[in-house]
Amino acid sequence: MSNTHFSDDFDFENRLIDTHEIPEDKSEGENPLRPKNLDEYIGQEKAKENLRVYIEAAKIRHETLDHVLLYGPPGLGKTTLAGIIANELGVNIRITSGPAIEKPGDLAALLTNLNEGDVLFIDEIHRLSRSVEEVLYPSMEDFAIDIITGKGQMAASYHLPLPHFTLVGATTRAGQLTAPLRDRFGVLLRLELYTPEELAKIVTRSAGILGIKIDYEGAIEVASRSRGTPRIANRMLKRVRDFAQVMSDGVITLETARTALDRLEIDELGLDQNDRRMLEAIIRFYNGGPVGLETLAAAIGEEAVTIEDVYEPYLMQIGFLSRTPRGRCITAEGCRHLGYEFPKGAIPGAVTQPSLFDNK
Ligand code: ADE
Repeated sequence: MSNTHFSDDFDFENRLIDTHEIPEDKSEGENPLRPKNLDEYIGQEKAKENLRVYIEAAKIRHETLDHVLLYGPPGLGKTTLAGIIANELGVNIRITSGPAIEKPGDLAALLTNLNEGDVLFIDEIHRLSRSVEEVLYPSMEDFAIDIITGKGQMAASYHLPLPHFTLVGATTRAGQLTAPLRDRFGVLLRLELYTPEELAKIVTRSAGILGIKIDYEGAIEVASRSRGTPRIANRMLKRVRDFAQVMSDGVITLETARTALDRLEIDELGLDQNDRRMLEAIIRFYNGGPVGLETLAAAIGEEAVTIEDVYEPYLMQIGFLSRTPRGRCITAEGCRHLGYEFPKGAIPGAVTQPSLFDNK
């Protein structure tokens, strides 16, 4: 059965609960929902309070902040936090991503254009090529790069000093970073999925900025169905507002939020059709598991990395899925949620939080 595909009705592009940034997440220019400083930033208390200390200390010493690596599932605010770091330090930020830096020369151009103390933000830093990484090492460590011009006898090497800067790297896959790159970050911050209460605060704040009326129960309902992810919560808020405006007096209450999200087929725990299909595949075709990641990916017509980055963190957090050495297993609770009996002979499987430093 491992060649069973579900791709016909698969709709990742329009997935309301997609955690990747889509153009709609930003309005014109800057995203007004992004907090600008640490005080406005809700949740991630551990990362936030540590960061506050490091930023203060760097400012007191008149030094640049150590390089920072932010890691965790997509949609939790890594880019937002990078912007806040720059803002709190009172410096400029340059934003780029691993795949956008194709050649060492591209990185050299970025680095030589920084001002003293600036933040360089590299999203998806695990996707840098080796040749680019090799230029990045000395620039992070010694704030200098060696540029070679010409070939053969005409070759010449220049040692080019750079301004001191803070590299903020972000990744959903810390396990894929090379050890030399990982070791060059002084500050490692893991971002966690948000609790419904934290998300309700974010939704309420966003509603205030966008001029949307929402009551506490409405905010909790949107939050509970946003799989721990502010990007999803803010997107849902805008969709639910449409329903609230057409169905009632425009106020998002428990009832309007429920009706809207039921219509969008997001269940009360935030699972959409794709989550349910994946879990059902584990039950129906693999007797509840264990099933290997690649096999499961082929069965549902999805990339293994998407399963790992987008589907699994939340399903594991709510205790519906577990990772065992032999593969993925659904839990008894996951079965119950989908209305299935827990398959006889299935392994209950210890529920474990995914470690982002694990590759598999
Ligand atoms: N919008 C997105 N993420 C946020 C956060 N952590 N705090 C406040 N607003 C947000």
